[in-house]
Amino acid sequence: MAPSARPTVPSIRARKARDGSEPLVMVTAYDAPGARIAHEAGVDMILVGDSVAMVVLGYDDTLQVTVDDLAHHTAAVARAKPDCLIVGDLPWMSYHVSTEETVRNAAQLVRAGAQCVKLEGGRKRVPMIEALVDAEIPVMGHLGLTPQSVHAMGGFRVQAKESEAALQLVADAKALQHAGCFAIVLEGVPDEVARMVTDALDIPTIGIGAGRHCDGQVLVFHDVLGLEDRVVPKFVRRYAELKGSAVEAMSAFAADVRCGAFPADAESYHLDAEQSEALALYGSGRG
Ligand code: KIV
Repeated sequence: MAPSARPTVPSIRARKARDGSEPLVMVTAYDAPGARIAHEAGVDMILVGDSVAMVVLGYDDTLQVTVDDLAHHTAAVARAKPDCLIVGDLPWMSYHVSTEETVRNAAQLVRAGAQCVKLEGGRKRVPMIEALVDAEIPVMGHLGLTPQSVHAMGGFRVQAKESEAALQLVADAKALQHAGCFAIVLEGVPDEVARMVTDALDIPTIGIGAGRHCDGQVLVFHDVLGLEDRVVPKFVRRYAELKGSAVEAMSAFAADVRCGAFPADAESYHLDAEQSEALALYGSGRG
């Protein structure tokens, strides 16, 4: 069931579990049908994630997509007018060069229909976050396993597994909050570390592979629905097996076409009797 009021940045910022708020629900979506599904399911936020690179466009990492790609998918989601906050993901190299470029690139996502943007990284992103907030563009942070750092991390690996790194993560989260982020995604960190970060912040944390203590959870659309069945990370729970159902349905269609069972008479258009007769006469040479 869809919620009655569309969530806003201030309403999301206020959702801390320790204050009795219901956990936030975020899911990725990349097109209008996906946005309609998220809307009808009543999720709070749609992340038009750079994961589109891997789950939709077939790349091996998220580094291949551009601001134009993300704007294209954000616009498709926004056209569905979901009652969800739309978060546009800033892709790699869209917020690394200068604050001016960062603001311009974020503005492209906002003009495509995002109400806020997300970017990856800790303290070193503070100037970019401040510039965005200054330009009235709300920012969601993203810490821990940051997929755009895949090469620097040496692969998609759980982060902050040692006490020093855990303390750095808490410091990064506080710096992001201080710079003006309204929420922070915590990806691929131990449950205990996510709890420390969540306790240290006044803004909500949204976990993915970060245990049970975050203020909300996010999963990738294709993982929730079982459309992606090649890799199943430990933190994914599948709520359907749509890939299997889709292959079954497509095979049935192919079989029906091949044996002549599709289309049936009821699935075909017909001429009315008068036109049919005229054509028959024409065909017989009497017309
Ligand atoms: O792009 C994405 O899907 C993400 C989520 C994993 C949080 O950033």
